[in-house]
Amino acid sequence: MQIVASRRELVVVVVGASLALVACSGGGGESEGSATEGTTATSSGSSSGAESETTSGGEALRPNWHEDVAPVVAEHCQACHSSGGIGPFSLSTYAESKDWAPVLAFNVAEGLMPPWHAVETAECAPPLPWKHDARLPEALITMFQAWADAGAPEGDPKLAAPLPTPPSLDLADPTATATMGSALTIEKSGQTLDQFHCVSLDPGNAQDVFLTAFQVIPGNRKVVHHVVIYVDESGQSASWPGGVKKDCGGGSGLSGATTMIGAWVPGGLPTEAPPDVGIPLPAGARLVFNVHYHASAGGPEIDDSTGIALRWTTQPLGWTSLFELLGDPGRGSSLTGDLMIPAGASEHVEEYVWTVSAGGADFPDTIEARLWTIGAHMHKIATNMRVWVEDRDSSATTCLAEMPRYDYNWQRLYEYEGPLEQMLRVRSGDKIHVRCTYNNTLQNPGVVEALAEVGLDAPVDVYVGEGTLDEMCLGAIGVAVKGI
Ligand code: HEC
Repeated sequence: MQIVASRRELVVVVVGASLALVACSGGGGESEGSATEGTTATSSGSSSGAESETTSGGEALRPNWHEDVAPVVAEHCQACHSSGGIGPFSLSTYAESKDWAPVLAFNVAEGLMPPWHAVETAECAPPLPWKHDARLPEALITMFQAWADAGAPEGDPKLAAPLPTPPSLDLADPTATATMGSALTIEKSGQTLDQFHCVSLDPGNAQDVFLTAFQVIPGNRKVVHHVVIYVDESGQSASWPGGVKKDCGGGSGLSGATTMIGAWVPGGLPTEAPPDVGIPLPAGARLVFNVHYHASAGGPEIDDSTGIALRWTTQPLGWTSLFELLGDPGRGSSLTGDLMIPAGASEHVEEYVWTVSAGGADFPDTIEARLWTIGAHMHKIATNMRVWVEDRDSSATTCLAEMPRYDYNWQRLYEYEGPLEQMLRVRSGDKIHVRCTYNNTLQNPGVVEALAEVGLDAPVDVYVGEGTLDEMCLGAIGVAVKGI
């Protein structure tokens, strides 16, 4: 999609502009520390009076950093944009933030920040709101814009609004914690900084249990980029040397059917199943992480402590959560033939349909199945996924999710908000469609990145596979089932 490329260009332009601004004011009259005392204009005095810090009545301009912006940034941005966080710069103080104001305003207005990819579109209105929806309300987007337009006034620290404590990223009351069994050295290899290793973790449950919540614990935060979590029911990954299968591509590294139960990106909150829902973890099962490591340009880094905190119960709960991967390589049949994305195609579509069943067999309507979570797994050529359900009787469709700015770097599961009884029910015979769109041109920054990793500079035909220059079209759904 050209939009993606042009947006990035725009961002670069805006960043350039703000750097220019920094450069201008650097030599100017703005002496450090004096800004807070002055009651009049403190900035480099470029053109207009709009940059005055006070109104004619002597009151601090609103919105300003201390009264308006700081609490929003603390709540919505600092989980990533603080020193040591994954954001490319810190937004912890006024000094760190002020020169970014135009770029912040642009990114929030475009919906690029905070990162959130499941959005309503003309074709897709999901049936329920999302849990932990990170998108900013319109009033806050306007506030960022007004702050930037006014020249990013600081305001009076004496009037500073209380800062909310950012939500905890730790899982409360874990039953167990499992950590990787050996150390991995992550360093640049050839052209590429990205590596995908599968790591086997032993949850240590001697009996069958039901997971109700989990949270990934990144070991070396400098290199752990994202994690996809699978259940290895047979425990076959225990035989991997050191519990690691290196360079396992984009999947689980397991043979046979695999169950993806979650995905994690830095800043992500713990995954908690709805009340009374458990994810079965048989005795002896292991968990497998597909860890996307991004090597540091600064030299080798060791990761020996990535793991997962788990909460489980040994009592079966009212609902059992089952996960399905739909598409290719998953369940369902293709409506568009074998997955192949021709070089140069900018709006290539692959579509799959799966008829809801229990392992291929019909199940009676006395069994209630409700969809509570959904995610997309595709690689770097992909630009969009839409998933919808077609009712077996009326053929009426309900859109589950669309991700029109799919970004490989921000994979996660999205959970619906609300009581399970209100979540979308699927019955045996309903059809679930997964439609993936790809842009296999140099307009797509993901293609440029993927090609560079293998030393190419022109798009090639792309097929299904695990590699950087392969693709997938997978919709992951979590269904809570009662009555089995
Ligand atoms: C979950 C982590 C996370 C949160 C929350 C987050 N950011 Fe970011 N932000 C990032 C990362 C990582 C990048 C680097 C670009 C990327 O990976 O998309 C980034 C990039 C940016 C950029 C630069 C974009 C560019 O093109 O250079 C801006 C501006 C920004 N964030 C502002 C914000 C603001 C404002 C908020 C809060 C309203 C916020 N971010 C919340 C992680 C986060």
